[in-house]
Amino acid sequence: MSASTDARVAVVTGAAGGIGKAIARDLANHGWSLVLVDVNEREARTAEAELGILTAVAIVVADVSDRHTHVLAADAAEQLGTLAGWVNCAGITIREPLHAITSDIADRVIGVNQYGSLWGTSVAVDRMRGTGGAIVNMSSVHARASYADFAVYEMTKAAIEALTRNAAIAYGSQGIRANAVAPGAIMTPALAASFESAPDADGARSDLAERSALGRIGEAREIASVVTFLLSGAASYVTGQSIVIDGGWTSMLGRDSADPSRRRTAGGSE
Ligand SMILES: NC(=O)c1ccc[n+]([C@@H]2O[C@H](COP(=O)([O-])OP(=O)(O)OC[C@H]3O[C@@H](n4cnc5c(N)ncnc54)[C@H](O)[C@@H]3O)[C@@H](O)[C@H]2O)c1
Repeated sequence: MSASTDARVAVVTGAAGGIGKAIARDLANHGWSLVLVDVNEREARTAEAELGILTAVAIVVADVSDRHTHVLAADAAEQLGTLAGWVNCAGITIREPLHAITSDIADRVIGVNQYGSLWGTSVAVDRMRGTGGAIVNMSSVHARASYADFAVYEMTKAAIEALTRNAAIAYGSQGIRANAVAPGAIMTPALAASFESAPDADGARSDLAERSALGRIGEAREIASVVTFLLSGAASYVTGQSIVIDGGWTSMLGRDSADPSRRRTAGGSE
């Protein structure tokens, strides 16, 4: 599909992955042109081919921890139309107990998650000054609550929420909104692979599902629809927030086994 100068364009990083690709697809379905950023060239090209049927798409195959990647993405967006949305979704997790974390692990996770979001947000606000726009950064429930072996990941996600607040208050007067979304457990290839490596894959899957109030793992499209909302005019007075999308996971103290009404009789989505 060809570019149009009045098109609204969004940059989506990590767009070849589970959640990023769902976000890109949902934005395309809502009329956005797209710049897809990812290090995985094969999957990025697959996403480009799939989404190119719906909208104008450009790809940047490069590492988000490098600021220049975001400059290339912004340049590509301005070729397609008006840069009005930016989603920093690329992220990685490496499980390691806090006492055993190496510089290599810390550099990799901080590089992708924290520097990737920092440079993406920095370039986005720079290019959106004057015209306005909306940014969404990818946090996690891990910004607020902990699993034992996720220290670096959790640190980066909390930092992403702080960065988001800063962008919101520093650039709000220039028509730029910045929000984060904080997903719970979402079924993506990354999560599926973590189940496969568990000693009891089915047990790990159902255990995670039971931790949410809705009794199921979320779907990537359920993150995408909130991101599309946050980039849209319908969210014109929403800024500086982190929206938790976790099926109620972080609202639960746990199951009360003494309360018969809490015994689950059926799972699945409504
Ligand atoms: N899946 C979940 O349950 C869950 C929950 C909370 C938050 N998140 C967050 O959502 C985001 C996406 O997660 P996902 O589950 O879709 O993972 P995923 O692994 O499917 O997707 C991540 C994408 O980021 C890309 N990427 C990795 N390093 C990169 C780099 N240096 N430069 C550019 N691209 C890079 C990968 O190639 C991949 O396409 C991450 O930020 C993750 O922390 C996921």
